[in-house]
Amino acid sequence: MSIADDPTRAPARSHLYAMGLTDDEMRRPVVGIASTWTGTMPCNLTHRTLAGHVARGVERAGGTPMEFNTIAVSDNLTMGTPGMRASLVSRELIADSIELMGRAHRFDAMVCIVGCDKTVPAALMALARLDIPTVVLYSGTMMPGRWRGRDVTIQDMWEALGERAVGRMSQEDVDDLARHACPGAGTCAAQYTANTMGSVADFLGLAPFGVGDIPAVADEKSGAAEAVGEVAMRAYAADARPSRILTADALHNALVSVAAMGGSTNAVLHMLAIAREAGLPLRIDEIGEVCRQVPIVTALKPSGPHTALDLWRAGGTSLVARRLLEAGLLREDVVMVDGRSLRQVAADAVEAPGQRVVADVFEPAKPAGALAILRGTLAPDGCVLKLGGRADFRREGPARVYDSEESCFDAIQAGAVTQGDVVVVRYEGPAGGPGMREMLSITGALVGRGLGDSVTLVTDGRFSGVSHGLVIGHVAPEAHHGGPIALVRDGDTVAVDTSAGTLDLLVADDELAERRRAWRRPERPVERGVLAKYAATVGSASDGAVTV
Ligand code: FES
Repeated sequence: MSIADDPTRAPARSHLYAMGLTDDEMRRPVVGIASTWTGTMPCNLTHRTLAGHVARGVERAGGTPMEFNTIAVSDNLTMGTPGMRASLVSRELIADSIELMGRAHRFDAMVCIVGCDKTVPAALMALARLDIPTVVLYSGTMMPGRWRGRDVTIQDMWEALGERAVGRMSQEDVDDLARHACPGAGTCAAQYTANTMGSVADFLGLAPFGVGDIPAVADEKSGAAEAVGEVAMRAYAADARPSRILTADALHNALVSVAAMGGSTNAVLHMLAIAREAGLPLRIDEIGEVCRQVPIVTALKPSGPHTALDLWRAGGTSLVARRLLEAGLLREDVVMVDGRSLRQVAADAVEAPGQRVVADVFEPAKPAGALAILRGTLAPDGCVLKLGGRADFRREGPARVYDSEESCFDAIQAGAVTQGDVVVVRYEGPAGGPGMREMLSITGALVGRGLGDSVTLVTDGRFSGVSHGLVIGHVAPEAHHGGPIALVRDGDTVAVDTSAGTLDLLVADDELAERRRAWRRPERPVERGVLAKYAATVGSASDGAVTV
């Protein structure tokens, strides 16, 4: 019985009348529209406007929209600061917020408008918990900036700091680049974490293919958002619940998309977390297996030259789906929230003549995979290597050990890290950091100084999707829990072997046992508030760093 007709809900009706709703509107399906708008970043700046467009689509299809908001944390604005500790924590808080609103207000269907990095997996986690028909609307990429005749993104900005440190750029040039790198609203403008997860939402079947590709400020976005409101109403009528969509096959397709599009290492954490919420068994090694079988098909930054705008113009994720389907890499027995089949999506794709962004699977942009999962004496529970399409390699080098991102960054800028070193940054894990900060200031500094291909970075923290170079993150168990990474000392030999899938600390067992006896857990830098609460409950990065 609707609120309009239930005699016991008269007090609730009085509040709905106060909001201007009519009895008729109360009898219609109620669609919750979760927006992750905040006015603190360009990434989600369009969400309030988009929520209005979605609401119009819901009304046009005969529903009653109800909008609400969550927090969101800008990864770029917090990067390299203690504020970055809030980033991964915000994923849990956003998921919890959407879940709580869904449970409290018992929406018939939902639309989740997402953008900046953590908001996408957060919404996917929440909708898996709630299991009511839900459509994800990815708000879209930022346009690339233009600077001195070339397209630039936030990646150029971070690497400019390293170039400045070695005198290859002047401060005036860095400041000028800053004024041009990010020309307006939208998410970071290539296949970094936000766009990686936006594509994941498509390939999971929870976002209509093609909508997320549209840049945030493109004219086409408003009409697409209205259509999403109508899709939500159709999903409600068809009872297209996430439990029917978020299956093992859909998860596989999403993992293939991460690999094929050269996705961010953060996708490993997020896919593990989403699978867990959906009750689907997924081990970190299975992600590595998919990445071994799927080459990088799109030539997108940071592993290629193109931006997300180029991908949209070339044909978008629908074109990627067509290529992957033709190569037999996708599982077709999946349900999608807009009712289309994968074959229809592939058939609907419009490929721009002569485009050079989406390659053929059999002549890929890069022959090797995007990511690799390694294990070994330094990471018994696993870690993630950003392979970026590199061929297999073996490396050994002396460890340079730092107990925080800041101390490592200072050392690199002072010239204390040189070719062949293995930089180890620890106590930056989910519990130890706490919050598993992204090491973009470090990778940017290394690349900017020309050390991106000669220095290996190993950390129990994580990386921005912008990061590239020889980077290995998510080392588990983390140092705070006494993982072997806590026992590494300056000068120890660390060995990486991608064909064997190993990351080893070449120190004798008896010496390691001696170090373990002497090891004392350092105090965490944060012992109060939400970060302390998070640190007390968060699990291993190898399980997605979830808090339940
Ligand atoms: Fe928000 Fe990159 S910082 S998408």
